[in-house]
Amino acid sequence: MNPPSFLLSFFLVLTYFTSCLGVYHEKNSHTVSYHSLPASSSLLYRKSRTWNRHRQQARGYASSVNVDEFGAKADGSDDSEAFKKAWNKGCSSSGDVVIIVPKNRMYTLKPVTFSGPCKSRIIFKIHGTIKASAKTADYARDRSHWIVFQNVENFRVKGGGTINGSGKIWWKNSCKINESLPCIGAPTAVTFDECKNLIVSNLKFLNAQQMHLSFEKCLNVRALNLLVIAPEKSPNTDGIHVTGTQNIRIQNCVIRTGDDCISIVSGSKNVQATDITCGPGHGISIGSLGAGKQEARVSNVFVNRATLSGTTNGVRIKTWQGGSGFAKNIVFQNIALNNVSNPIIINQNYCDQKEPCKEQRSAVQVSNVMYRNIVGTSASEVAVKFDCSKTFPCRGVVLQNINLNSQESGERATASCDNVNFAKRGSVSPQCS
Ligand SMILES: *[C@@H]1O[C@H](CO)[C@@H](O)[C@H](O)[C@H]1NC(C)=O
Ligand SMILES: *[C@@H]1O[C@H](CO)[C@@H](O)[C@H](O)[C@H]1NC(C)=O
Ligand SMILES: *[C@@H]1O[C@H](CO)[C@@H](O)[C@H](O)[C@H]1NC(C)=O
Repeated sequence: MNPPSFLLSFFLVLTYFTSCLGVYHEKNSHTVSYHSLPASSSLLYRKSRTWNRHRQQARGYASSVNVDEFGAKADGSDDSEAFKKAWNKGCSSSGDVVIIVPKNRMYTLKPVTFSGPCKSRIIFKIHGTIKASAKTADYARDRSHWIVFQNVENFRVKGGGTINGSGKIWWKNSCKINESLPCIGAPTAVTFDECKNLIVSNLKFLNAQQMHLSFEKCLNVRALNLLVIAPEKSPNTDGIHVTGTQNIRIQNCVIRTGDDCISIVSGSKNVQATDITCGPGHGISIGSLGAGKQEARVSNVFVNRATLSGTTNGVRIKTWQGGSGFAKNIVFQNIALNNVSNPIIINQNYCDQKEPCKEQRSAVQVSNVMYRNIVGTSASEVAVKFDCSKTFPCRGVVLQNINLNSQESGERATASCDNVNFAKRGSVSPQCS
């Protein structure tokens, strides 16, 4: 493989960028080091400075609560009760509080929900490791969640620690791995449900049972400096999932999993993803939308500066036939792709089920989608694919400065464009015929 030199320099610039801003770097596939944010950069810091000021002004002074004080043992036995007690203590305290999960210790948790509203601001500092119980029977009551933070405001989760979903047992029992088994799903490792003013930063998520991190019905979120890792063959292990969430910025994240790097689904608005590294996995996706004739609404998505390597898609919009609603005002820009199977794709005939999907007239309307400065190599012949609905063609698609070549030297990359209304600016290759 010999990428054009300008592509190489683009990668270098990206790498430089991400390293300045402080992102996880993988030295090799086994060790991972972390460079923290320099004190002067990023909005996070500005936000946290404001926060500290608030804290100093607050009457109840910042106190801390340590899970060990509540009986957490970190010896492989269940620490859930200790964590719940620590949470309840923190959540009911009248001054700002830091809940501490000490470093160099590995705690085991069964499914647990940490609920608000809390009396004051909480910082949940995970320095050590939190590991999921690997007994599926522990999830009998609710198979779809492991750790849930619910209805918490002015909340930060950080600390440099690790959250390990112990996913192996779930992957083995997935219908995507063993087709003779029923499709019954598995827990999302960490869910933030109806949280407001939330910052999740400087953490490592490993081997989730299914999705790693899900933001659901949240408002004002930053997800920064996260490392998310699971094997390429682990089923449905999306990195960061965004649903029903408004005003979210995902920044400086490295995501290498078996499913979507970032997935953005219905009810999400004002979503920014900046300085993202993906692969392996399925790429950055809006959707799927409109499954089971649902109405979907996604708008104002801005993906800027991403590098995807060896993913099955690059930037993707996927909708099922029969849905309604919209996916609109979407920008994908400054994206480098390295051996990606479907670098640019809109699929309005998405069908992720065993039976074939019947043709339907209704569809989620896709409009105003800008692809700008997208370069790299395609692992498949069709580098640009717009497979839009006959009855609801894709509207207002703009391609600007696109240069996608085949990964195989001597092969030509092509574009396939059905039912799409598009414009082209600058140099675009390959082009719809
Ligand atoms: C994650 O958890 C699994 C199962 O509980 C364990 O086997 C594995 O060693 C853990 N990995 C790390 C890096 O802690
Ligand atoms: C798939 O599941 C079936 C039914 O539980 C089981 O008998 C079989 O051993 C599994 N196959 C593999 C490869 O794990
Ligand atoms: C490119 O991707 C294809 C398909 O995923 C894979 O088979 C091939 O080994 C990759 N090539 C390189 C050089 O990584």
